[in-house]
Amino acid sequence: MQSLGNKKILLGITGGIAAYKAAELVRLLTRAGAEVRVVMTPAAQEFVQPLTYQALSGHRVYTDLFDAEAESAMDHIELARWCDLLVVAPASADFLGKMNAGYADNLLLTLCLASKQPVAVAPAMNQQMFANPATRDNLHNLTGRGVLVWGPDEGEQACGDVGPGRMLEPA
Ligand SMILES: Cc1cc2nc3c(=O)[nH]c(=O)nc-3n(C[C@H](O)[C@H](O)[C@H](O)COP(=O)(O)O)c2cc1C
Repeated sequence: MQSLGNKKILLGITGGIAAYKAAELVRLLTRAGAEVRVVMTPAAQEFVQPLTYQALSGHRVYTDLFDAEAESAMDHIELARWCDLLVVAPASADFLGKMNAGYADNLLLTLCLASKQPVAVAPAMNQQMFANPATRDNLHNLTGRGVLVWGPDEGEQACGDVGPGRMLEPA
């Protein structure tokens, strides 16, 4: 991975099996010199504990839109402005749909809407979910609005299916 010295990356993690890959992504980004802050959706926390990303990034993990303590330290609009790049990896089908619709009912969705910085998403889902016209439309619309779509990769999936939908490898 190229040098990312002084780069500020806000990494959003949504609820999917590939949340475990985000741990490696945090490790690689910090090793490349980036400052990484992690935001998790409520569903993401069903897969990996925030503590994992806290230990790897060296910073507290943001999980709650209505967290008075976090808001007083750096409110959600400041957090959206703080980063050079907002990356959502893995990006679930659900998240992409809400992002396309402009929802802001959790912290990560709110940050996506509030950020003027470049936003990239790394879709990760079952191949049938990825093939669904709803998902395709969501990604098409997001791309048209300038959102960078990285991946997905193709191959064997956690559910046993084979096809496109795997999250890109973190490297
Ligand atoms: C075991 C399990 C694995 C899942 N894996 C994925 C996945 O890889 N991709 C995806 O889009 N949804 C997956 N889901 C469904 C999402 O967790 C669900 O749609 C959730 O609402 C996503 O919330 P979020 O987008 O706010 O994080 C999975 C659900 C379960 C129970």
